[in-house]
Amino acid sequence: MRIFSGIQPTGQMHIGNYLGATRNWVNLQNEHSCLYTVVDLHALTTLQNPKELHDASFEKVVELLAIGLDTERCALFIQSHVKEHTELAWIFNTLTPVAELERMTQFKDKSKKNKKNINAGLLTYPVLMAADILLYQPDKIPVGKDQVQHLELTRMIARKFNQQFGHTFKEPEVLLIEEAAKIMSLEDPKKKMSKSDGPAAYISLFEEPEAIRKKVSRATTDTGKEIRFNPAKKPGISNLITIYSLFAEESVHDVEKKFADKGYAAFKKATAELLIEKLEPFRQKKQELFKRELYIQEILKQGAKRARSIAETTMQDVRSKIGLLLPN
Ligand code: TYM
Repeated sequence: MRIFSGIQPTGQMHIGNYLGATRNWVNLQNEHSCLYTVVDLHALTTLQNPKELHDASFEKVVELLAIGLDTERCALFIQSHVKEHTELAWIFNTLTPVAELERMTQFKDKSKKNKKNINAGLLTYPVLMAADILLYQPDKIPVGKDQVQHLELTRMIARKFNQQFGHTFKEPEVLLIEEAAKIMSLEDPKKKMSKSDGPAAYISLFEEPEAIRKKVSRATTDTGKEIRFNPAKKPGISNLITIYSLFAEESVHDVEKKFADKGYAAFKKATAELLIEKLEPFRQKKQELFKRELYIQEILKQGAKRARSIAETTMQDVRSKIGLLLPN
């Protein structure tokens, strides 16, 4: 199977997008042909300071390597290094009804949050995402729940192109880790964990131990004192149980049993210590890799080369199918 996925460079990687997506990226590379990208062009849809964007793209690559991506087994590249993404996005723009884009939840949320910067790129964001994906003819796309609607649009665009110009694109499927598809905010467990809600809402994958202890102990919990998984009635504790269960690789039921006669404080303490144990190697690896700039650049060069070789083949087919006059 061919696997493709992407992540934005901006903001720290947190346990939400790790459990929901990138942990799965690492697991998949052992058995499949995987391509992963840091989507710097997508990040431009929200205002970015150029230096910060530049540094964040490098840092995101370092982070992905620190959590275990191995470029002997997958291709890792920066989206803007492969020009075909924007070319195919333009072509897909001409096939995508504006009304479909206007009903995207993420567009509506981001426009509400950012009233002063509702740019055209924010609206066509999912079209660029469709281009990212379809260029590589992948079978499965590992993502969290918030991206599923964009994946449906991607499939719609593939279908539409195929109907109009003849079969060209595979319709890729979403690969969702059901239990981890939506890790919630520590502050407001009714909202998804997100880097844009401020540092108390999330735990970075590279967080210092003391900060982990503090954040977990302050995480919003529910009335009562039982460690019971019930997302509707006990969203705070249920979210922590999910996090514990995924990091410990124990079932939710086993976690409930283990802490049956313990209170919230003991459970939170155990969760914090578990997170510290699991995340410490990532933090150390990140520090080590940060110093190896040339090595990282070489990885990105090789990754883009591999990606380009697939993307160019797809684009040659697309250009000729839609009737562009090809250069000699
Ligand atoms: P991004 O950078 O917001 O998030 C990266 C991945 O993490 C998942 N995720 C979560 N999963 C569970 N719980 C959470 N709280 C949580 N927060 C984030 C996301 O679903 C995602 O899989 N548009 C994409 C990037 C993108 C992309 C692509 C993805 C661009 N092109 C092509 C796949 C294929 C995004 O903003 O992800």
